[in-house]
Amino acid sequence: MRNNLQVRNLKEPEQGPEKEKKWIITICLIFLVLFLGIKVLVAAFLNAVPEGFFSLKASIAPVRTNSNTPELTLSPKVVENKNYHWLALPSVAPAPVDNPTTAEKVRLGKMLFFDKNLSADRSLACESCHKLYEFAGADGKPVATGINKQQGSRNSPTVWNTAFQRRLFWDGRAQSLEEQSLQPFTNPVEMGMASLEQVVLRVQEQPKYLAAFKRAFAEEHDITIEKIAQAIASFERTLITNDSPYDDFVRGKKTALSQQQLNGMALFAKTGCVHCHFGPNFSAASVFDSGLAFRIFPANSSRLVKKYGLSPSKDQNTVWRVPSLRNVALTGPWLHNGLIKELSEVVRIMAQAQLGRSHSRAFIWSGTTLDVLENPDLSDAQIGDIVAFLESLSSKKLSQIRGE
Ligand code: HEC
Ligand code: HEC
Repeated sequence: MRNNLQVRNLKEPEQGPEKEKKWIITICLIFLVLFLGIKVLVAAFLNAVPEGFFSLKASIAPVRTNSNTPELTLSPKVVENKNYHWLALPSVAPAPVDNPTTAEKVRLGKMLFFDKNLSADRSLACESCHKLYEFAGADGKPVATGINKQQGSRNSPTVWNTAFQRRLFWDGRAQSLEEQSLQPFTNPVEMGMASLEQVVLRVQEQPKYLAAFKRAFAEEHDITIEKIAQAIASFERTLITNDSPYDDFVRGKKTALSQQQLNGMALFAKTGCVHCHFGPNFSAASVFDSGLAFRIFPANSSRLVKKYGLSPSKDQNTVWRVPSLRNVALTGPWLHNGLIKELSEVVRIMAQAQLGRSHSRAFIWSGTTLDVLENPDLSDAQIGDIVAFLESLSSKKLSQIRGE
């Protein structure tokens, strides 16, 4: 009895806490298992989400609080880019394996590019809307004028340096110069040809092309639409301007840029323009990069976005290929609809719409960090500096021809 009691007395006081301990350990284990399970699920979800999903979402803002408080905007990414690497443009553009660039193909492509017979009423060549020298590869008009003086809905972009873009057209729907070059022929508001077969016939009817195709394609010199596309693309691959003051500076000529242009260059990186306009061709859609080529525009609402009616209605495009900024000072009017006549106004719009710099406060979301920027609007002097920098991206040769 005594022994039993002793044993019981010794054991009993410890039984309560031990039981509790076991419970606590069990609960902890359950939580651990749940936590690991959720983590695995989240990781699996993130893997399944397509690349670029979050950066697109992040630029969808603005977030409105209520009508009395100012609009809060969520800007796409990064404010500071102190370590941005500036690069010059190479002098040779890459070509597809099945269409190596040769001098004869380039010569043939040039003939085709300048040939007005390849439009329905024989009034327009590619060069009519992409005036290589007079308008630095564009046409100086808000929107393109096709056959029968029809007005298109988009601005003619320059063809210079398009060889370095991996997405073409304002909405990036073409993936190579070969693919792009066939679309204008049958576009009813551009060259208006009934079919691509008709284009081949217009080429075949001209004796000068027989010899030119023979020289460019040797044995297999029958005139086909694929070869027409290959020749035009080869010619375009030679339209390169790497003779800008910017290129000179990056290659080591310290005096190539003015003080104001240097200020603008630093601001261009610091304010985040390089988030989208980066690399030697100043475009996220260039061959030097393989990331997301498109961005929502306008990403934020702002005074200027409203002023120019840039917010698209429901059926309109909101996602655009990031354009190159080379020769941009020579290719106005600007934007996909050619609505803006001053480069400074485009920079203001970009700062407001793409970087949220028009509000009393902007939130800069990098994907993992959140910064708050107070009074972020760029001053007129800063806009002037950025414009001066953009002017340094103009080819010296093309500027001279334009007398600028
Ligand atoms: C009537 C005017 C017109 C003619 C003619 C024309 N284009 Fe264009 N071109 C445009 C317009 C407008 C765009 C932009 C269209 C869009 O994005 O939807 C464009 C886009 C392009 C682009 C893409 C540039 C970029 O930055 O993405 C290239 C390259 C091009 N054209 C080459 C040609 C070639 C080659 C021809 C002849 C076969 C030609 N164009 C004929 C008006 C024209
Ligand atoms: C979030 C991405 C993004 C950022 C940041 C951005 N841009 Fe743009 N930029 C675009 C897109 C997309 C377009 C094409 C808009 C359109 O017309 O549809 C564009 C167009 C332009 C154009 C007009 C090009 C032309 O040929 O008409 C200029 C100039 C320009 N940007 C300069 C700048 C400057 C300067 C900054 C910094 C203040 C900047 N961008 C910041 C995406 C961006």
